[in-house]
Amino acid sequence: MQIITTRQALSDQVAACKQKQKTIGLVPTMGALHEGHASLVRKSVSGNNVTFVSVFVNPTQFNNKEDLEKYPRNLERDADLLASLGVDYVFAPTPEEMYTPEEMNTVFNFDFGGLDSVMEGKMRPGHFNGVVQVVSKLFRLVQPDRAYFGEKDYQQLAVIRRMVDIMHFNVQIVGCPIVREASGLALSSRNERLSAEEKQTAVNISHILFESRQLTQSQTVAQVESWVIEQINRVPGLTVEYYQIVDQTTLQPAPDFSHAIGCVTVYCGPVRLIDNVKY
Ligand code: PAF
Repeated sequence: MQIITTRQALSDQVAACKQKQKTIGLVPTMGALHEGHASLVRKSVSGNNVTFVSVFVNPTQFNNKEDLEKYPRNLERDADLLASLGVDYVFAPTPEEMYTPEEMNTVFNFDFGGLDSVMEGKMRPGHFNGVVQVVSKLFRLVQPDRAYFGEKDYQQLAVIRRMVDIMHFNVQIVGCPIVREASGLALSSRNERLSAEEKQTAVNISHILFESRQLTQSQTVAQVESWVIEQINRVPGLTVEYYQIVDQTTLQPAPDFSHAIGCVTVYCGPVRLIDNVKY
């Protein structure tokens, strides 16, 4: 496995792969890798001749400086895991390598078609602009045949699919199911910031989401939304930022439970966790 830190070296390796007509899989990550990332990487390794994984904590998608600073980073450990999974190339650039100072300081413009007006988009203004900015750059550099994203960040997946449509990238986006601990807790790099006690508390989030599936026969969408928010807020140490049941494609409020997904963001102590459940 080769670790690449410059765009030039990346482009050279991509050109060599293309010349040999190898299919390329890309797994974009921000590092602090866990079994959820490993599941994406395994899919890429088995579905393509060559796999590139990017490890880059993208500053332009953070609207909270403290969150950016505290984001866990451990390239050495990530590289060990990626080598054991059969990855060919890791791309780990610095922010200066990825962005000009101007790009770093201006908000990237993209027409989200309403996908960013709800949930994460509403709570974290500019977040998805930064995601589209970095992922479009990675797609241009790596020119992957397939790119792999987790369904835990469901709204991000929808935004990326739209970006591919609008920008005419010739790449297949592969959405991969959430990986959970045996307790039900959705795997997340942010879980590293939870104490053992907070982790126990956070388990309630998925349990309540799963339980809410039992209510869809007898209750309306609005009633289930209120029920979930109330149940989670009742758990000492958890505070809901939003819970919305939306259409799985448009992400607009769902009129009923067919083709609906419930997306939640919860603060567990200082750590912001997200999860979702399909109805
Ligand atoms: O999901 C993530 O880790 C990031 O948002 C991504 C897609 C790697 C872009 O920085």
